[in-house]
Amino acid sequence: MSASIDIQPVAGALGAEISGIDLSGDLSNAEFDAVHQAFLDHQVIFFRDQHDLQPDAHKAFASRFGSLNVHPYVAGMESHPEILEIIKEPDEKLNFGGGWHSDMSFLEEPALGSILHAIEVPPYGGDTLFASQTAAYEALSPGMKAMLEDLTAIHSASREYSSKGASAQARQSMQAQQADDAPEYEHPVVRTHPETGRKGLYINPAFTLRFKDMTTRESRPLLEYLFAHSREERFTCRFRWSKGAVAFWDNRCCWHYALNDYQGFRRHMRRVTVNGDRPV
Ligand code: SIN
Repeated sequence: MSASIDIQPVAGALGAEISGIDLSGDLSNAEFDAVHQAFLDHQVIFFRDQHDLQPDAHKAFASRFGSLNVHPYVAGMESHPEILEIIKEPDEKLNFGGGWHSDMSFLEEPALGSILHAIEVPPYGGDTLFASQTAAYEALSPGMKAMLEDLTAIHSASREYSSKGASAQARQSMQAQQADDAPEYEHPVVRTHPETGRKGLYINPAFTLRFKDMTTRESRPLLEYLFAHSREERFTCRFRWSKGAVAFWDNRCCWHYALNDYQGFRRHMRRVTVNGDRPV
């Protein structure tokens, strides 16, 4: 590892802040390996003062982890369709990502990770919370783990991006389409991380509709229990943004939540999402 890279955990369950890296430059193989290992070890990593991270460099860094996603329901930048401009204007009430979720579990091959760059931040508030789904899984009883092992969940964008869904409601600053007829995909409730081999819960308050072979009503009590368990404080960390900061989270093993507590101020972020593989 390069001698100048420093990695400081921010909480017990997940999250680390990395200094000594300029993401806008060509990372050496040693620097890339250190960042990659920190990403696997900490599930979400943070960098400050990445003021030179222009869209091309943002995409170039993300591309080192995989191919880039073009969101099927939310329009990206005109010149960079792989970059979502996540903007909340001072007079807007809704915020994108304002509920616990991982990104894009409504795809057959959901996102590996998302890299969010702060362009403009409010003077206070607008933090993002993260929750480790491996820590949540590991804290379950042996009986609950055994029961969940064979369960499959149905994921779809159909509810969140429906005409009534929070992610598709009209906004001034982001164009999101309605997707009432979005496809459904099956994913295991307990997912083995393809790189670390760690098991974690893989359900999603935004996109999990029900368990396979069960009705929505039958599924709801267990899903609600797991959703509440998975966001317990002991599994979380919190990132206070500053202009130029970057967060890179692993959607295969953590959730995130964008807080909506800065009414009257503008917040502008850019997100690049790296495609992942089929959960097993
Ligand atoms: C997201 O859910 O991708 C947005 C997170 C944030 O804006 O903090």
